[in-house]
Amino acid sequence: KAERQALVDEILEWKKKRNALILAHNYELPEIQDIADVLGDSLALARAAMRADADVIVLCGVHFMAETAAILNPDKTVLLPDPNAGCSLADSITADALRAWKAEHPGAVVVSYVNTSAEVKAESDYCCTSSNAVQVVRSIPEDREILFLPDMFLGSYVKRVTGRENLHIWMGECHVHAGIRPHDIEETLSAHPDAELLIHPECGCSTSNMYLLAEGQLPADRTHVLSTSGMLQRARESDKRAFIVATEVGILYQMERQNPDKTFIPANRAAVCPFMKMITLEKVRDALARLETVISVPADVAARARVAIERMVAIG
Ligand code: 13P
Ligand code: SF4
Repeated sequence: KAERQALVDEILEWKKKRNALILAHNYELPEIQDIADVLGDSLALARAAMRADADVIVLCGVHFMAETAAILNPDKTVLLPDPNAGCSLADSITADALRAWKAEHPGAVVVSYVNTSAEVKAESDYCCTSSNAVQVVRSIPEDREILFLPDMFLGSYVKRVTGRENLHIWMGECHVHAGIRPHDIEETLSAHPDAELLIHPECGCSTSNMYLLAEGQLPADRTHVLSTSGMLQRARESDKRAFIVATEVGILYQMERQNPDKTFIPANRAAVCPFMKMITLEKVRDALARLETVISVPADVAARARVAIERMVAIG
């Protein structure tokens, strides 16, 4: 414990010296969440990065989040404490593959989830996150074809909610969320029949749950499909005492902290993102001390990607 405090003190000193701001995603390790100036979902972190007036932004999250910060605030030094913190979902589509897909659908509007590389964003018309995907799709005229990528579960969810038949979905997935299956929900719900259901739309269970919901097989008044920050807000505001949480388990730390009198049950305890857990206190200290690893995006790619990202930040 004393060792951990000494590390935290070092980080705070370096933070002052570097005039740095620490942004952390809701899936980060508890000790990283504790030192964050801003803790949030992808949209909140993008907005915080855009507004930041510190000289250095330490992004405790994954590579695409640091790229997004660098694109939105190009004058700042954006540091990712472990450059290997990637994302299986972002890796499921390349810019070349997207160009080929676009060639098959000339004139289609490209909506990319924020979990994509800067190069893929540069080929996109809009970016979206789990908290505004539905609103972004609704903002596009009905008669335009849409290419939605890369997450097939989020895509199916958005298609179902908006009823857009001309929305084509890329078959990518996040291996962590895809591992949360419908039977995980069935089992936890039968063990906790009064619990409220909080589901991330990237989950393998979310699409089938939308069908079950529509068929009246899930409690509609207690099932919520939300981004990670949306889940935290719902947990605070709901008068229910127990919640089944279908997303990466790192979020439970904050839920329990904010609601000590409520119970949170992970739908699948094995839903752990190895990339998010790569960021440790030691690596944050070293990142600030050595000013490493700087994440930057070539100016031409950044300029094209920025248009799509700014549309995302503006909607929802
Ligand atoms: P949100 O925090 O935006 O809901 O995204 C979840 C996620 O998997 C980020 O990588
Ligand atoms: Fe990527 Fe999934 Fe990890 Fe989020 S949880 S960073 S989508 S691999």
